[in-house]
Amino acid sequence: MNVKLADIFCRFAVGDLPCAATLLTSGHINQTWRVDTTSGASYVLQRLSPVAFPDPDSVMANKLAVTRHLSTRAAAADAARPVPRFLALREGGFLLRDEDGGAWNLMPFIGPSRSYLAAPDVHIAREAGLTLGEFLSHTSDLDPTLLNETLPGFHDLGRRLGEFDVALASADAGRRNEAAQAIRDVGELRESMLVIERLRVAGVIPPRVTHNDTKLPNMLFTPEGKGLCMIDLDTVMPGILHYDFGDAVRMLCNTGAEDEPDPDRIGIRLDYFEAFIEGMFGSSRLAPQPGETTALADSPAAMAFIVGLRMLTDFLEGDRYFTTAYPGHNLVRARAQLALAGRFAEARARLEDALESALQSAADSGRTG
Ligand SMILES: Nc1ncnc2c1ncn2[C@@H]1O[C@H](COP(=O)(O)OP(=O)(O)O)[C@@H](O)[C@H]1O
Ligand SMILES: [Mg+2]
Repeated sequence: MNVKLADIFCRFAVGDLPCAATLLTSGHINQTWRVDTTSGASYVLQRLSPVAFPDPDSVMANKLAVTRHLSTRAAAADAARPVPRFLALREGGFLLRDEDGGAWNLMPFIGPSRSYLAAPDVHIAREAGLTLGEFLSHTSDLDPTLLNETLPGFHDLGRRLGEFDVALASADAGRRNEAAQAIRDVGELRESMLVIERLRVAGVIPPRVTHNDTKLPNMLFTPEGKGLCMIDLDTVMPGILHYDFGDAVRMLCNTGAEDEPDPDRIGIRLDYFEAFIEGMFGSSRLAPQPGETTALADSPAAMAFIVGLRMLTDFLEGDRYFTTAYPGHNLVRARAQLALAGRFAEARARLEDALESALQSAADSGRTG
């Protein structure tokens, strides 16, 4: 295997000798390797980009706080459910800095396991809900003020709208024309999409520890499709239930790809939505706090809107932040996410009915069971 990777691995305090490394994912934020060792034990070695996380020590402190808390809660609740864990360096600490400013951490490989890019059926949608519900249930008694706000205002729509307005005012005319319809869509939707942010600021929706990147590939399953645990904890920080719920639903229930160029292919899988909330509120131990179910049905639309807005802002700024696969990719993504936000907004009454009955039956079974 690569000598540099082997050297990095050996600086961590594990006795095993590395023999093979397989690249699992390489995005613009992380590079993730599976490292196999001569003893048969496997690990996950990950490099965090200094661009996305300029303060990796704060990120690591959050990840340690959450995984340590999870290990006490999860072990008590269900010994069969693994918990991600970070391993220390021989020299102490958990992060190894390289000469390019990258920061490395090491975890035991949880396996046998797999992840999914998209849900193949309602069973996986339900297990995804259960997996997120268990994570949020186990972290519900961890004080969110103990965590660092590593990405300040990440899901703050007011802030994102401010950035969009600045980008729009200084965008070049060509890009503004090309994006004219998407810009009009933002104008139409922006007021109604602010409902959650206003409830948060008013203190109606209480803060809690959240994952903040709850897409399906960040959940591990057994090879048979049973939900195991949330992974990719770089974004854990204080948030609200609506962020994690809305973001998970946004991707899971979309009939199209995140960057679907044909808006007619963007729709909502209500069967996946029902299965997901059944898993999250019915099967997990998650008990929403007062205020946490207020406007929950608005959250998938709001999360899709924020993502669309960020893509559109980046397009207007000349594609500076997100990696694009072709010219205009950010605009295609923005249109798709804004269309998705519109579909969720149209389906709001149905989402709310489904949520009400899932929460009611969870409360009923809690009373009788
Ligand atoms: N502890 C682990 N055990 C097993 N597989 C893992 C573990 N951590 C990550 N993976 C696998 O690696 C993939 C990428 O890891 P992730 O932490 O999500 O990084 P990225 O930032 O690249 O998305 C996951 O989708 C999962 O398949
Ligand atoms: Mg990931």
